[in-house]
Amino acid sequence: MQTGEELEAQAWAVFGGGASSPVRAGRRVGGVPFFQQAGAGALAYDHTGRAYIDYVMGYGPLLFGYRMPGSERVKAQFDTGVLFGSTHHAEIRLAERIRGHLPSMERLRFTTTGTEAVMGAVRVARAATKRSGLVRFGGNYHGHTDIALLDAGASAETSAPQAAGIPAGVARDVHVLPYNDLPSLEALLACEGEQIAAVLLEPVVGNMGLVLPVPGFLEGVLSAAHAAGALVIFDEVISWLRLGLGGAQGRLGLQPDLTTIGKILGGGLPIAAFGGRADLLACLAPQGPVFTGGTHAGHPLAVAAGHAVLDELEGQPELYDTMRRRAEYLAQGLQRLFTRYGYPYQVVWLESIVDFKFRPGDPIRDYTQAKEAKAEVFARYYHAMRERGILLAPSYNEVMFLSTEHTDAQVEETLRAAEGALLAIKH
Ligand SMILES: Cc1ncc(COP(=O)(O)O)c(C=O)c1O
Repeated sequence: MQTGEELEAQAWAVFGGGASSPVRAGRRVGGVPFFQQAGAGALAYDHTGRAYIDYVMGYGPLLFGYRMPGSERVKAQFDTGVLFGSTHHAEIRLAERIRGHLPSMERLRFTTTGTEAVMGAVRVARAATKRSGLVRFGGNYHGHTDIALLDAGASAETSAPQAAGIPAGVARDVHVLPYNDLPSLEALLACEGEQIAAVLLEPVVGNMGLVLPVPGFLEGVLSAAHAAGALVIFDEVISWLRLGLGGAQGRLGLQPDLTTIGKILGGGLPIAAFGGRADLLACLAPQGPVFTGGTHAGHPLAVAAGHAVLDELEGQPELYDTMRRRAEYLAQGLQRLFTRYGYPYQVVWLESIVDFKFRPGDPIRDYTQAKEAKAEVFARYYHAMRERGILLAPSYNEVMFLSTEHTDAQVEETLRAAEGALLAIKH
């Protein structure tokens, strides 16, 4: 069997940057990256076959852990046709079901990834308003197109446009503001409002740790943007289905002009969508001039998985209660450990997301605060947890995702491991 070091060398010999997505290369925490060979329930198995309780959950999509909801349905789709180059009935039905839960998505279009969904939503907003400016917030992550980077969260800390392959012209149209800072948005809109097509944001941020909007922030964004004739795009690629069937917008009773969704929708298969007001989506070709396309958009296998995901969540709403209860137990347990061992850190949690930063003080509000966290302490904690059989994402910007498959016993085991890890890194 190959060692982790050998796999790492092999990966670096074939992948640019050592991995297909940068965070996987593990450079944020150092050491040998995690190589996975399998997953079952809430467990990830490394290349040696050792099991870990997994809180990465594929960076969010695996709400059902490694159990694929409706796998029979997906397998049946293999026999009916793996890919169609035409619109299909199940795809239409899935769009109808999504709209049933997210009524703001009066019309939508499927894509393969969240990145493309955001790209499509921004292009529609720019075409509909005939403006090119885009406002984003530091530490939010919206995929890896040129417009979405620059001070983005997750593993994309790109701050130098030219050096990072992003044309300065693109960067000139993108304004990055501090999250939760309504006055800075109002000030920008007061000067440049007529050039701003859209304000793009995660209504609950999951990419600089878990950051909740302060009361009134999202309402203020909607009213300030609309007053300036700009549109608001809620990126719910993480939050839709993670926070419930209505997503963040349903939970908060807010109506964005455009929305992007993805991740959990495919239960692990790649599918995403953008959508919103019917008059805006009327910009799309062939009805209007805006082009977005995709060979794999609305992929039949992912659509079958999407139906299965919704069947399960609609049929068993108590799944959310169970996940919430376990996340709360984990969050409270971690908080107690911090108190017991004199760590001045705050645990934050919402539904099945749990997070904390190695940073004293109140829960963070923006990316400047997020970057104050001690990355090197997190790196030691990450490895101490991994040694104890707990798999965290190898970046302090990422959160812990629970799933329907995490058990009470696994949460207890995680807390025991955290106690050991916190003691180990203290010395
Ligand atoms: C909020 C948000 N939007 C968009 C994306 C991009 O999605 P994808 O990785 O499927 O392209 C992500 C990915 O993490 C995300 O968290």
